Amino acid sequence: MRMRWRHLAVLAVAVPALVFGLAWSGLIGVRASTGHWAATDWFLHWVMRNSVRTASLSTEPSRHDDPSSTAAAAAHFQSGCAVCHGSPAEQRSSTMLSMLPPPPDLSVAVNAWTDAQLFEIVKHGVRFTGMPSWPTQVRDDEVWAMVGFLRNLPQMSARDYIELSGLQLTPTARSLTPLVMTCESCHAQGRPGNGGAVPLISGQSEAYLLESLKAYKAGRRPSGIMSVALGPLSQDDLKKLAGHYAEQRVSWQQVGPTNAERYQAGLQLAQNGRSIDRIPACLSCHERDNGNEDYPRLFGQNAAYLGQQLRLFRMGVRGGGKASHLMAVAAKNLTDEDIDTLASFFSQRNNDRPSAAMD
Ligand code: HEC
Ligand code: HEC
Ligand code: HEC
Repeated sequence: MRMRWRHLAVLAVAVPALVFGLAWSGLIGVRASTGHWAATDWFLHWVMRNSVRTASLSTEPSRHDDPSSTAAAAAHFQSGCAVCHGSPAEQRSSTMLSMLPPPPDLSVAVNAWTDAQLFEIVKHGVRFTGMPSWPTQVRDDEVWAMVGFLRNLPQMSARDYIELSGLQLTPTARSLTPLVMTCESCHAQGRPGNGGAVPLISGQSEAYLLESLKAYKAGRRPSGIMSVALGPLSQDDLKKLAGHYAEQRVSWQQVGPTNAERYQAGLQLAQNGRSIDRIPACLSCHERDNGNEDYPRLFGQNAAYLGQQLRLFRMGVRGGGKASHLMAVAAKNLTDEDIDTLASFFSQRNNDRPSAAMD
């Protein structure tokens, strides 16, 4: 018995020493060029599949078939994922195929995963492979939008992809400087698929635009999509962009058919608030003539975007400029129904009609 204990003690020292010695000797290859042995490859993927399956068990499925968010996800895919995974418009490059493991062609690979598993992979990434995690971990709606996009990928033609991802710029975009071009793939007026999660930004005040861009850059306003879009830009670039978009004089058109009853309910809440729930009158801050520059304009903005921002304020996730805490308070007690009503009301008002609070 005593002998056994001594053997174990020797082993406990000798095995790590041996492994450590082997690693020190430089005999373990890290060359990607030679690939993995088939057994190693199988083992690593087996570990990955098991890990993703177990982690995704606790994932609450969320709606992700909403076409209003697919265009933003597609444009983000083009700038943040296609470089490795290729896209319906472009094959993976041979450089990417030389990665170990190579990023798979997702129009085939997604079929092997459930929605919750795709969500798990896209949100958290895959260690030791180069597959990055989503840039922000505090909101899931953007990741679900990406899952929705990935689900459509196997059936997507190159032409549809080019249109949806904003690769095909609108005619006016062709005359823009390269700095602004990076934004137009999503924010161009009249871009196909807009009207959803991507906000209209032309004609917002310069102060509000600049504060928003700084907030994204500093992470006070979390968005994986916007943080990738702003990635390399300097503070000076942000100023130029805020100036450019503030100068655009475009009218924000009313969208969608108006439901008179719902419209009235929205107007009532926006004008008067609801004191019992301590909801302030939205129009006491927003849409006033000569109003505060820090308060963004809402009339004619996309309903899907407005609704999502109100939910983020309510969750306490969205920051912004120096007055954004006011909005977090205003949104705190809104119900889901209030949010839908208000988003639809503000999106249906055409900003060309003067004086908001009059009717
Ligand atoms: C730097 C390159 C790189 C980028 C950028 C990248 N990926 Fe990946 N991705 C990988 C690699 C490598 C794998 C393979 C992991 C493996 O084999 O286990 C992978 C795996 C995946 C998988 C699992 C597919 C499978 O069957 O293994 C999904 C889904 C995925 N990526 C989606 C995305 C999305 C969506 C984006 C953009 C937000 C993205 N990836 C960005 C490299 C990348
Ligand atoms: C891949 C698509 C995409 C690209 C590219 C992109 N954006 Fe955005 N942008 C979005 C989405 C989606 C949102 C909403 C994010 C959120 O939930 O906060 C947004 C939000 C914004 C906002 C906040 C608007 C508001 O009303 O608060 C500003 C300002 C903005 N973007 C400016 C830019 C600028 C400038 C560029 C170019 C450097 C750019 N965006 C590039 C998709 C994009
Ligand atoms: C006390 C002033 C105040 C009140 C009242 C107020 N807001 Fe705001 N709201 C703001 C400020 C300030 C911001 C900008 C936050 C930031 O810096 O990003 C904002 C931003 C927003 C945004 C985001 C717009 C965008 O482009 O991203 C929405 C949507 C919004 N408010 C809707 C409402 C609604 C609906 C109500 C009524 C329930 C309301 N607000 C009441 C001050 C107010």
